[in-house]
Amino acid sequence: MHSEDATSAAADAEYRRRSAQNWEHAAAGWIAERGRMRERMAPVTEWLVDHLELRPGVTVLELAAGPGDVGIRVAEALAGDGRVMVSDRAPAMVEAAGRWAGERGAHGVETRVLDAESLDLGDASVDRVVCRFGYMLVPDRAAAFRETRRVLRPGGRVAFAVWAEPERNEWATTLWDVIEGATPLPPARPGGPSMFALAEPGVVQETLAGAGLEQRALDQIPVEWRYADFDAYWRSAVAMNGALTRLLPTLSGAEQAELAAAVRAAIERFRHGDGYRLPGLALGVAASR
Ligand SMILES: C[S@@+](CC[C@H](N)C(=O)[O-])C[C@H]1O[C@@H](n2cnc3c(N)ncnc32)[C@H](O)[C@@H]1O
Repeated sequence: MHSEDATSAAADAEYRRRSAQNWEHAAAGWIAERGRMRERMAPVTEWLVDHLELRPGVTVLELAAGPGDVGIRVAEALAGDGRVMVSDRAPAMVEAAGRWAGERGAHGVETRVLDAESLDLGDASVDRVVCRFGYMLVPDRAAAFRETRRVLRPGGRVAFAVWAEPERNEWATTLWDVIEGATPLPPARPGGPSMFALAEPGVVQETLAGAGLEQRALDQIPVEWRYADFDAYWRSAVAMNGALTRLLPTLSGAEQAELAAAVRAAIERFRHGDGYRLPGLALGVAASR
């Protein structure tokens, strides 16, 4: 192995370790914020459900499902005539998805701990794969799409969503600019896994083609995050962000207040009456094997 490759492999391994911890840690916050996520990301969820081209009796695999919002919506669309495997690498997310499926009375839902980069599933074992805001977060995106293709039956479909470029997602960049300026969190590696790793025009198409998947649709899906006031915004931001959830307790009360005040000033431009409305843009992508 060249020393550059070894450095990058070590960085990927370290990223996987930290990311797994962060997401496991973030699960409680994602459960608490499930209602907002479901409501505000509904345009993305509905795009995915539409583009899965569901048929009676299909087996659907959800990857990087978090607490299972999308997979359980798919199960509801199938109304018992089909099977949905809701999976994530973080066991706490998978447990939350299972509980949510029970609460909703969704039929045909199974839960699995699975790593999208290396799926513990047989070849050609599912008809559909769905993933909302997951593929861009894995270090080896080519492997994740190869695995998706491998488990899809010929003619099967994948529908997924990723974030469009940073300039169109100020809800995220505004927060991160403040946090990165104020704390010792390591900055994202260019070309490495990040919210925006599949955002640039052409990258999705190239990655799909490399994995032997044929792109069928790519649409922009505008979304808007809404909060009743700053406290609701900050509670949500901290709850959903594993890195921030872990960082805050390491800061003194004064430092935490200073960070919150800096974020509040930065999002002032998104204030709408007492509340806040922050725009974002997702990309919906459908492809077939
Ligand atoms: C941004 S959240 C999205 C959750 C959910 N899909 C949603 O839209 O609400 C990203 C999720 O990806 C999961 N994840 C990260 N890396 C993963 C991997 N290699 N394999 C499977 N899941 C992974 C995390 O545990 C987390 O639940």
